[in-house]
Amino acid sequence: MLYILAENFYAAARRYNRAAMNTATSQAQAIASHWSLQALNTFGIAATARAYLRVSSSADLQAVRANTALSTLPRLVLGGGSNLILSGDFDGLVLHLANQGKRIVSEDNTHIIVSAQAGENWHEFVQWTLVQNLPGLENLSLIPGSVGAAPIQNIGAYGSELKDFFHSLTYFDFLTGEICVVDREACRFAYRDSIFKQELRDRAVILDVSFALPKQWQPNLSYAELKHELTTTVVVAPTAREISEAVIAIRRRKLPDPAVIGNAGSFFKNPVVSKEVHAVLLEKYPQLVSYVQPDGSVKLAAGWMIDQCGWKGKSLGAVGVHEKQALVLINRGGASGADVLKLARAIQEDVRQRFGVTLEIEPVLV
Ligand code: EPU
Repeated sequence: MLYILAENFYAAARRYNRAAMNTATSQAQAIASHWSLQALNTFGIAATARAYLRVSSSADLQAVRANTALSTLPRLVLGGGSNLILSGDFDGLVLHLANQGKRIVSEDNTHIIVSAQAGENWHEFVQWTLVQNLPGLENLSLIPGSVGAAPIQNIGAYGSELKDFFHSLTYFDFLTGEICVVDREACRFAYRDSIFKQELRDRAVILDVSFALPKQWQPNLSYAELKHELTTTVVVAPTAREISEAVIAIRRRKLPDPAVIGNAGSFFKNPVVSKEVHAVLLEKYPQLVSYVQPDGSVKLAAGWMIDQCGWKGKSLGAVGVHEKQALVLINRGGASGADVLKLARAIQEDVRQRFGVTLEIEPVLV
């Protein structure tokens, strides 16, 4: 059952989201109006949503779809809010995925299939797999956000990407009202990209995600900094748990904790250029940090270029560039979406002028 609570009731409760939330959840899937999103985006931008629904199952989504007043509103699907920049108040319906649960589903000769509901916290899920003695996801430890959001941008870090372990996922299709199951190929994963950022962007709500974890596990130490970290702490071949701890240590050293300093992780993608463009740049900048891709193109370290432009540790109004990683923009207090975009544009312009390369913003802009 779906209740639409009187707008004026929630207007009064606007400044007291917590209290309002308790009321809402106690009345099944209640919809709240003018809901503050500040605590729901890790950048900490103050903005409201015209309507908000905490989603605990696909039945909630079916109910929204069946309600003309709601189904015609613009939608924003929210997980952990860790890859989101709100440019202002959202004049639509926020669907906040809160479904919980994780389990071992099945196994074959080579893999064990595990599944988690979209509302599960990603890092807690990774830690749970390790406790079950199911290695594979350890390089992706401590990435902020939810399980349901992870496939959207094909999260990646320290030599691994989600797609390397992805099995399938279930999503609710707002266009047809159907529940669909898709495999890896259908998701069209690429570097920080998938079909859910493209054709299915305003259509699909991911409900649960399954992973195929290898029975014959091999440590992935392809990322030089991770290998170095482990050689300083572990003498023999590292376990998955030790790799997870090393990744956590590196992340804590270099990246701001969103619970302490508002941020959305890497703010730009690492741009990919042709080998010809790379050769020209390398001649001019012999220190250029770059990674040759399997197809011969070259990925450039955006953080290095931003650093070279002198932005590291600098601020423009309420938004700054992190002191230890120039790819991360941070909220110095009271930042608005417009403040974030102002700094982002200034950085993009400097990098374009100096290196002739366009930086693409990585988080979702709403
Ligand atoms: N660098 C600098 N100055 C800086 C930042 C980086 O010179 O201020 C240099 C580093 O020394 C290094 C290179 O640039 O040689 C790359 O830096 P780093 O290893 O920190 O990785 P990154 O390419 O900046 C990417 C991901 C991160 C992920 C790390 C580790 C993207 C957009 N970002 O960052 O992902 O944790 O690799 O795998 O691909 C995220 O997506 O939110 C995120 C944090």
